[in-house]
Amino acid sequence: MDFQTFLRRIPKVDLHCHLVGTLRPQTLAQLASTHGLALPRPAETLYDFADFYDFLDVLRLASASVRTADDFSRVTYEALQDGHSAGNLRHAELLFNPQYFYPYGVSYRTMVDGMLDGMAGAERDFGVSALLVASFDRMIDAAGAMQILDDVLAYRKPQVVGIGLDGAERTGPPQRFAEVYARAGAAGLKRTAHVCEDNQTLEEAPPSNYAICRDLLKCDRLDHGYNLLADPAMVMRARDEGLYFNTCTITSVTRNLERRRASIAKMVDLGLNVTLNTDDPVMFKTDIAHSYQVLFQSQPQWGVARARAFSLDGVAASWLDDTTKAAL
Ligand code: ADE
Ligand code: ZN
Repeated sequence: MDFQTFLRRIPKVDLHCHLVGTLRPQTLAQLASTHGLALPRPAETLYDFADFYDFLDVLRLASASVRTADDFSRVTYEALQDGHSAGNLRHAELLFNPQYFYPYGVSYRTMVDGMLDGMAGAERDFGVSALLVASFDRMIDAAGAMQILDDVLAYRKPQVVGIGLDGAERTGPPQRFAEVYARAGAAGLKRTAHVCEDNQTLEEAPPSNYAICRDLLKCDRLDHGYNLLADPAMVMRARDEGLYFNTCTITSVTRNLERRRASIAKMVDLGLNVTLNTDDPVMFKTDIAHSYQVLFQSQPQWGVARARAFSLDGVAASWLDDTTKAAL
C-alpha cells in the first residue's frame, strides 16, 4: 500500500469540525430553496472566499438554511457519512452555534434533537460516533452567551459535552466569557476556544490569549494555536501543560496554506500536543483524509509513526469517556 493510501485508510477522529462548514453545496441549495432563502451567489461558488471575514459571513448565511429537526438530522448525517467515505472517520466532535439559528425561530431543542437523530443514523449505518460542542461566535455579548448556556443546561444531553468559542478574535476577547465558562465548568461541561488563529494578525489574535484561555476560561483543550509560535515562552508553557491543540491543515485563506502547514509542523517539532482536523471541510474543499495527505506532502520526512501519532492523539484529546476511548 502506498503512503497516500495508508493516510486515507488509517482510522481518524475529527475534533474540530463546524457543522455548518460541512454543508454540501447541493444540500445547501435545496434547504435554502425549501425555506425561501436567496443565496447571494450559486451554491458552487459560495465557497470561494475573499478573506476570513467573508468566510464567516457565508457561514452565518448558510446557517439560515438549516431550520427544522429534519434539516439538522440530514446535515449531521451527511457530515459523518462524508467523513466515513472520504477517510475512515471513526469519531467526530461537531461544533454548532445556536446563535446562528435562533434568529430564524429555531429552538435549542429542535437543533439538538435533529443532530442527535442524525448521529444515531450515522452510528447505525457507518459506525461513526459523534459528540456535540455548543459554540459561541465571540461577536455575541456575555449576556447572550449566558442565555445560550441556560438553554444547554435546561435541555441537558450527555452528547453535548462541552462549549467552544469561535469567530473573529478581534470581535470578542476571551475574558468577556469568563463567567459563562466558569458556570459551564461547574456544570461539568468541557471547555475549548479558538485561539491564535493565523488568519488574523498577532494584535488581533495574540499569544497572550493562550494564558487567558487557560487561567481565566480554564480550557481543557484549544482550537488552532499557530500565532503562539511568536512567543517562545508561551510555547514552553503550553508544552509543559501538555495541552492539546486541535489544528486544521486547510483554511479559508488560500494564500496562508503553506504557512499554516509549516506552523503545524513547527508546533509538532517543538513538542506541543497536536491533533489534525478539518475545521469546515466542505466549505474549505477538504476532508479528513485530504487534511492528512496535504500536510504530510509538505513534510516528506514524516512517515507512518507520525500518522499514527496524529490518529492516537485525536483519540486521547477527544471528550469521549475512557471506556469508549479504549474501544475506539
Ligand atoms: N467558525 C468556523 N470556522 C472557524 C474558524 N476557522 N475560525 C473562527 N471561527 C470559525
Ligand atoms: Zn474552527
